[in-house]
Amino acid sequence: MSKPELAKKETRVEQADARAREIEGQMTDEERFSLIISLSGATGMLGGVRDKRYPEDAPLAAGYTPGVPRLGVPALLSSDASMGVTNPGFRPDDKGATAMPASILVGASFNPQLARDGGATIAREARMRGFNVQLAGGINLIRDPRNGRNYEYYSEDPLLSALLGAEAVNGIQAEGVISTLKHYTLNCNETNRHWLDAIIEPGAHRESDLLAFQIAIERSQPGAIMSGYNKVNGDYAGGNLHLLMDVLKGTFGYKGYVMSDWGATPAWDFALKGLDQESGIQFDALLWNSESFSEPLRQAYTEGKLSKERLSDMVRRILRTIYAVGVDRWGPAPKVDLARHNEIALETARQGIVLLKNDGVLPIALEKQMRIAVIGGYAQLGVPSGTGSGAVLPIGGYAAVVPIGGPGALGTHRNLFLMPSAPLTELKKLLPKAQIEFDPGQTAAEAALLARRSDLVIIFGIRVEGESFDLADLSLPWGQDTLIDAVATANPNTIVVLETGNPVSMPWREKVKAIVQAWYPGQAGGLAIAEVLTGKVNPSGRLPITFPADLAQTPRPQLPGLGTPWGTPTTIRYDEGAEVGYRWYAKNRAKPLYTFGHGLSYTTFAYSELRVEGGETVTASFNVTNIGRRDGTDVPQLYLTDAGGDRRMRLLAFERIELEPGEWRKITFKADPRLLARFDGKTGKWTIAEGTYSVAVGKSASDLVLTGNARLPARQFGS
Ligand code: BGC
Repeated sequence: MSKPELAKKETRVEQADARAREIEGQMTDEERFSLIISLSGATGMLGGVRDKRYPEDAPLAAGYTPGVPRLGVPALLSSDASMGVTNPGFRPDDKGATAMPASILVGASFNPQLARDGGATIAREARMRGFNVQLAGGINLIRDPRNGRNYEYYSEDPLLSALLGAEAVNGIQAEGVISTLKHYTLNCNETNRHWLDAIIEPGAHRESDLLAFQIAIERSQPGAIMSGYNKVNGDYAGGNLHLLMDVLKGTFGYKGYVMSDWGATPAWDFALKGLDQESGIQFDALLWNSESFSEPLRQAYTEGKLSKERLSDMVRRILRTIYAVGVDRWGPAPKVDLARHNEIALETARQGIVLLKNDGVLPIALEKQMRIAVIGGYAQLGVPSGTGSGAVLPIGGYAAVVPIGGPGALGTHRNLFLMPSAPLTELKKLLPKAQIEFDPGQTAAEAALLARRSDLVIIFGIRVEGESFDLADLSLPWGQDTLIDAVATANPNTIVVLETGNPVSMPWREKVKAIVQAWYPGQAGGLAIAEVLTGKVNPSGRLPITFPADLAQTPRPQLPGLGTPWGTPTTIRYDEGAEVGYRWYAKNRAKPLYTFGHGLSYTTFAYSELRVEGGETVTASFNVTNIGRRDGTDVPQLYLTDAGGDRRMRLLAFERIELEPGEWRKITFKADPRLLARFDGKTGKWTIAEGTYSVAVGKSASDLVLTGNARLPARQFGS
């Protein structure tokens, strides 16, 4: 943001505070109560009837909060989510929106600018539909490779998640649409999420998931924070006095409003504990027998249990956000350029696809006359996406929908959604000289027949992951592991393309020549995959999540509650604390399959001349050179490896840099001192112990190339 832009924003925010106070002061209590709830427009999930309180002329949305026209307060209309404007069947006339790649793919791009472009894209399409709140910004840390919603989150690292989440919010809010950051906090597994108690040591929480929220809030000032479904250390996230009042609104100085997740407000007294708005109130009536912030909260107010002061605070926070983001000043919706939006979806996919392994088969030579077998994964139709509230109906509709089903509240919503960007079609276009044949991969024997008479095999491995389900293990479903094994036995010249939201176990890994992790690559994903395979695009994605060799290596070989019926109270201990993901493997000297930060290129980069300085924080500079034969983008990463004798790993900084062959650039990184410190729960301060701090520049968290040390004096700071 330029200086004048920043100054303008600051003035707007100051004015927002004053205006919120003034307007709230003019409201009746009836108007105040109307602002602190939202009604769900998901009529399909609510018995097929439109709620009488939901005006006929308002578009059906995830959430509707009436405005106060006499005071110029607009109604709030919210829509999901982080990967595009969703339409879970509410609006039959809405034929779809730009379906961006999954957030985990954005995580793999290590590119905050792409997150920002994606956010702006989504916000323009929200605005065009009259939605002024986007339920985006999922930044839960990826603690478990079985979590069904990891595709909606960016990474296992607090810094990376925060920088990407913040830019997504900035992109959305710059278009005049309020964004959330969600799900505050530790909603890191889906199993029994409404009854899940996430246990964590509070200091470690500050150094991990809470640090991600803290940094993202500092950098983007999201208008709203959505609390999670789960409990944290015994209290529901939406009614957690410590997390909402002490940490979020106290220490972090958060000035916006806290909305609950849908069906996550079982009691009216959450209002006393920091929750400002109850979302989708009909879901609370279904799940917990009452709309907490309707009658029960009014009753509490009449009885003096909810103070006028607190009610005013809830309302002021909502108004402040409306004014600070500017949703009260909307002119006509800006023109939306869908072709440009498709380009953004495509560019994102290009930058977030990760080349995990390459024994020289990639890129596929464009000019060669070859017989290529494309097998499985519905590659003739499109690319899969995740399921649940984040699933985006792409423009023009899905290529196909295969209903899957399953237990629990979202069972009927679990589908294999295929986006219409078929890798097979795109490969045929990019490889006109090749003879490409397709086999659906229905049986291993049949697929092996085609593999055997081909020069090269590209086989797709897919898995449906999504909201309200965790994975039981890391295998590929529908016998695809057996299929890949059989195909690779028939033809060792096999390339595997994985379209999943999480790591897979890859029992066939040694048998294949190349592995590409394409995640859920969005509506232009098939083209991006074909471009990476053929070298039109030099891969530059890096893993934002570590792929374990085995679940036994992870902090929780057994996932608590897995397999129990929906509604079973479940306790999950996040005893790894702040040592999430790569930090855990480093601490345990365990060797995963592929580590956080890993990703290959068709060129080679070298690092040299690391200089490290100490003082208040660590500053490191080094040179990156493209020593290969083609243009490429590298993502050098700076890690802390040892803090004054305490062996611990922290990503301190990263940057994407594009270099031509022979070109080099000097990079300088300055670490956020919180990443070098421990959070001391007793003093409530970040503490750096005096000593020698070791850092390393790496190609991943386990491929460290240069190392250096710096002395840091003891100090305590911040909160
Ligand atoms: C999800 C939220 C979403 C909300 C509204 C919930 O099921 O957890 O992420 O924003 O629904 O659709």
